[in-house]
Amino acid sequence: MQEEEKRKLIRAALEARERAYIPYSGYAVGAAVLMESGKMYTGCNIENASYGATNCAERTAIFKAVSEGERKCAAIAIAGGRAGSVLTDYAHPCGICRQVMREFGEKDMPVLVAKSEDDYREYTLDGLLPCGFGGENLV
Ligand code: THU
Repeated sequence: MQEEEKRKLIRAALEARERAYIPYSGYAVGAAVLMESGKMYTGCNIENASYGATNCAERTAIFKAVSEGERKCAAIAIAGGRAGSVLTDYAHPCGICRQVMREFGEKDMPVLVAKSEDDYREYTLDGLLPCGFGGENLV
């Protein structure tokens, strides 16, 4: 993945973060997923008064893509932290989101966890979810 593509994905995640619906936690997350088709989809976390009904930013982005007919994720960027503009934290994806990435991404899919376009950590999906359970286990 080219550096400029990474920066673009991170920029989109940061923009999506501004749309987070977070009346309960005050923790705003944005995600942008690049699909193998070349299209990008963004998402934010969407909270609920019944806390368990909350949807994470990563899953919002991936579900938007899948519901448009997309199936293969090529890369994802995530940016999160307390509401406000300066991110002091790398917001690593939760376990459920890692599992959803596993459903639609290959093991070497890049996962960019960003504070800004210039400050991010890069992982592979397999690095974040070693020995993950996938559809191939069910055949
Ligand atoms: N959150 C995400 O959006 N992604 C994650 O991977 C971890 C957590 C959200 C859910 C909730 O709205 C807030 O962060 C605090 O848990």
